[in-house]
Amino acid sequence: MFISKSRHYYNYTKLKSIIEAFYKKNKKIDYLVNTTGVLWFNMDVSSVDIEPKIWDQVFAINLKSMMYLSKIVIPKMIKNSFGSMVHISSIDALSGDDKPQDAYGSSKAAMIRLSKSLAIQFASKNIRSNIILPEPIDTGMQKRWKKNPLAKKNLEKFIPLQRVGKPEDIANTSMFLLSDQTNYITGTEIIVDGGITSKP
Ligand SMILES: NC(=O)c1ccc[n+]([C@@H]2O[C@H](COP(=O)([O-])OP(=O)(O)OC[C@H]3O[C@@H](n4cnc5c(N)ncnc54)[C@H](O)[C@@H]3O)[C@@H](O)[C@H]2O)c1
Repeated sequence: MFISKSRHYYNYTKLKSIIEAFYKKNKKIDYLVNTTGVLWFNMDVSSVDIEPKIWDQVFAINLKSMMYLSKIVIPKMIKNSFGSMVHISSIDALSGDDKPQDAYGSSKAAMIRLSKSLAIQFASKNIRSNIILPEPIDTGMQKRWKKNPLAKKNLEKFIPLQRVGKPEDIANTSMFLLSDQTNYITGTEIIVDGGITSKP
């Protein structure tokens, strides 16, 4: 399995050489998890205020990385007539926000479209592509909760399942979607958000 956590997303050649080395050693790549992403609360703001450079960087890390990895990994999956991919988007892709992170939300929405496109293009090669829309998960991305535990507590009152998510909640859903248990599922998305998006 190749989990995309490389720091080389700006450099296609470097990324390709890392994956080629992995492929040479392991002879095949069956699974790809696209989990890289950044949410820069103070710099990623409304489209009318954001620095264009920040917009481009967020898109490079969150979306271009998915294209780069697809470009490198899918041909290898085709050779082996098997592949299962999971991409990590966000429920932020689904709605607007009056305190927006516009680059983050837009890049996460584009991931959904790209996942569906990959699913359709490569289904006949026995390659599946599905996407998870999480929120809010207690990881480094939400380190602001450490400084402001009350904000986390208030959020938990708002979440139907009464807690923020754990990394395991996303890992378990990823394993499910990657596995043979979901052989007939491709091009779809699963929301893992403790029920937030189902609220009236
Ligand atoms: N934590 C949440 O509440 C939440 C909610 C919705 C979606 N997500 C998504 O989940 C995914 C994982 O995030 P997380 O919550 O584990 O946060 P995280 O900050 O702990 O992890 C983000 C990962 O992206 C990598 N990364 C950042 N910049 C990079 C770069 N320039 N090049 C290569 N890698 C880079 C980091 O090394 C890190 O491994 C992200 O795509 C994020 O958007 C998280």
